Amino acid sequence: MNQKHLRIVLAICLFLSLLNCNGPKKETEISTEKITLKKAYKEDFLIGTALNSAQINGNISEKESALIKNQFNSITAENIMKSMHIQPTRDQFTFDMADKFVKLGVDNNMFILAHNLIWHSQLPSWVNNIKDSNELNQFLQNHIAQLAGRYKGKIGGWDVVNEALNDDGTLRKSIFYNLLGEQYLVDAFKLAEKADPNAELYYNDYSMCVPAKRDGAIKLVKMLQENGAKVDGIGMQGHWGLTRPTLKEIERSILEFSSLGVKVMITELDITVLPSPWENAGADVNKSAENSDRMNPYPDGLPEEIQIQLAQRYKDIFKLFLKHKDKLSRVTFWGVNDAQSWKNNWPVEGRSDYTLLFDRNNNPKKAYHEVMSLKSK
Ligand code: G3I
Repeated sequence: MNQKHLRIVLAICLFLSLLNCNGPKKETEISTEKITLKKAYKEDFLIGTALNSAQINGNISEKESALIKNQFNSITAENIMKSMHIQPTRDQFTFDMADKFVKLGVDNNMFILAHNLIWHSQLPSWVNNIKDSNELNQFLQNHIAQLAGRYKGKIGGWDVVNEALNDDGTLRKSIFYNLLGEQYLVDAFKLAEKADPNAELYYNDYSMCVPAKRDGAIKLVKMLQENGAKVDGIGMQGHWGLTRPTLKEIERSILEFSSLGVKVMITELDITVLPSPWENAGADVNKSAENSDRMNPYPDGLPEEIQIQLAQRYKDIFKLFLKHKDKLSRVTFWGVNDAQSWKNNWPVEGRSDYTLLFDRNNNPKKAYHEVMSLKSK
């Protein structure tokens, strides 16, 4: 090749590389590349996701693994830190999965949200069978000391107590309340502080925009504060729908919770596009309903018009989150992609829901682009 040919080849290479840099990106590239959710919202709040066992074990595609690391700067264990998994038998702790989860967060410099210490649901059967208050108190003390103590200094925040309220704002008559009274709430926070003094400590619940429950949560947190417990934040789970709760109710909860002097966070965000068998769906995993064609309208994919509605809903709520970014410390999605979403199996088993920003192939959806568009102006 002579000098002239070489120059032509080099010029063509340069031209092609420029085209490659500035040309339009395929949608799928966005999920693993430069502009990502966590970068776009870096100055506003953390962007988190919940991880299932396969994701924690790394039994997922490279694409999904890269997506998790590139898009999110906070992780929550969707299931593996719940007491039925951590202490299935009295005094026998199975920390393997939790160890892997915490390592994943530490290795990738992520804010680790530990979910959860005390929850009436997903208890091991030996705890459910306890009838004696001393015995239950012993579980409370030991479980919190062992679990929170093991990861001392590595966890950003603990959901210390999960879902202690009924939807009318009264305290749930759980095994903890029935045997230990409301003192169990104070004890749980104090024990968590003792086990991991620098971790943030949260109260976490669903339906937190229902006025009566909002008032109940405020009363509960005030009670904790008056009793000398350290409460750093309130988690609003955010299992929401296309129209409810209204933006006004979400805003009201953010403002009222924040006025207690605590951080507010959206901890389990997903937006169902499916019909609910009940008026107020909430997130009580002990309730369920029958499947039917009417209840599962989009088994083969989401119609464009609903995709647009979902994208608009996500845009509206993120606009609201940005308005109150001084009060919100984190927004965590309850899952990475639509395939993972618990909503495919609740409140009706075996449906196809489309609740998150990434589809079943880990490609960003319209909703993702709308959420990102708020930061590109
Ligand atoms: O892993 C088993 C699998 O081996 C088995 O074949 C299959 C058969 O049903 O069950 C699998 O376990 C399921 C597990 O999720 C993992 O997918 C359980 O049945 C199912 O009950 C469990 O549901 C979880 C639910 O909490 C109860 O723990 C959901 O994934 C999880 O998203 C959900 O998360 C809760 C939060 O912790 C608290 N707030 C509400 C939220 C939604 O309910």
